[in-house]
Amino acid sequence: MPARIHPPTPTNLRRLAAALRRGELVAVPTETVYGLAAHALDPRACRAIFRAKGRPARDPLIVHVLDLAHAERLAVFNPAARRLARRFWPGPLTLVLPKQPCVPGVVTAGGATVALRAPAHPLARRLLRLAKIPLAAPSANLFGYISPTEAAHVVDGLGRRIRHVLDGGACPVGVESTILDLTNPARPRILRPGAVTAATLAKFLGRPVGQAPRQAAKGRLLAPGMLARHYSPRTPLVIRNPRGRRPHGVAGIFLRKPAGPTGRDIYWLSERGALAEIARNLYRVLRAADQGGHRQIWIEALPVAAGGLAVALHDRLRRAAASG
Ligand code: TXA
Ligand code: MG
Repeated sequence: MPARIHPPTPTNLRRLAAALRRGELVAVPTETVYGLAAHALDPRACRAIFRAKGRPARDPLIVHVLDLAHAERLAVFNPAARRLARRFWPGPLTLVLPKQPCVPGVVTAGGATVALRAPAHPLARRLLRLAKIPLAAPSANLFGYISPTEAAHVVDGLGRRIRHVLDGGACPVGVESTILDLTNPARPRILRPGAVTAATLAKFLGRPVGQAPRQAAKGRLLAPGMLARHYSPRTPLVIRNPRGRRPHGVAGIFLRKPAGPTGRDIYWLSERGALAEIARNLYRVLRAADQGGHRQIWIEALPVAAGGLAVALHDRLRRAAASG
C-alpha cells in the first residue's frame, strides 16, 4: 500500500498522533525539511526509521520536543545550552548534549550524547502536543539523497516504505537545522551549518564557536554533513558557472532568474538572488533538475563570502556535488 498524504485536519492530526504513539512512522513537515518521525522512546519504532531510509545504524537520530522542559528529560543541559534553547527554540537549532538514561541506544547510535531540537513548524508542534511523546526524526528521504521540502518529495523516495505523510506544504526554511555540539560548553562546535549561523551563536554565547573538521577521522561519523557525499542528486552535479557554453545535455541552475529566453535545461533558485529564497527552493530545484533527464548539471556557486545562510547552502552544494 503506497503512502497516503494526509491534509492537516484536526481528525487526521489526532489519528497520526495515535499512530505515532503505537510505534508507526509518520512523515511530518518541519520548518527546515520533512522529518520521518517515530516514538523516540520506542526502540522498535526507531529501528523502523533506519530500515525505511536505508540509513546505517551508526548514524544517530535527532529527537524533536516541544520545549526546553521536555528536552531536559532527555538530555543533561548546561547553562549555555539552556540559554540557547530559551533564545532559539522553537527553531532550526539542534543541540548535542549528554543523554539521559531513558533515551534508547538506537536513537544515539550507541553514543552517550543525544541531538535535540524544538521545531517551529505549527503542524510539527501540534503533533508533538497531541502525541505527548518525543519524536525521533531524520530527514524523510532515502539515505544520501536530497532532503524533502514538500509532501510529494517524501512520497517520491519513501512512498512504498511508509504509510503516512502529513501535508504541510513547502517548508519555509528549506535547509536542515544547524547542529551545535555543546557537550563541552567551553568549546561549542558546529557539526552542520544551518539557518542559525556561527556568527550569531558566537555573539550570543560571548565565546568562539568552532567548526567540526570537514571529514570525521577514520570513518567516524560526527554528523551527516560529515559524509563527503550527501544530499546528492543521481545526475552528476558540478559547481560551475552555467553561463559558460554548456555541452548538449548539460542543464544549468542559476542563483537568480537569468535574463532573456529560458529553456527546459535552465533552472533558477530565486527571482532576485535573496538567500532565504534560494534556501527555500534549493532542494526542490535540485530534484526537478535531477529528474529532467540531463547528462550533467552545472550549478552556480554560492557567495560564501556573504556569510550567513550562504555558508549552509554552500556546504550542502559541495556535498551534493562530491563524486563517489
Ligand atoms: O532540520 C533538521 O535537522 C531535520 C528536521 C527533520 O528536523 N532533520 C535532519 O535529520 O536533518 P538528519 O538525520 O537528516 O540529520 C541529523 C544528523 C544525523 O545524521 C546525525 O549525524 C546528527 O544529526 N546527529 C544526531 N545525533 C547526533 C549526536 N548525538 N551527535 C552528533 N551528531 C548527531
Ligand atoms: Mg538527512
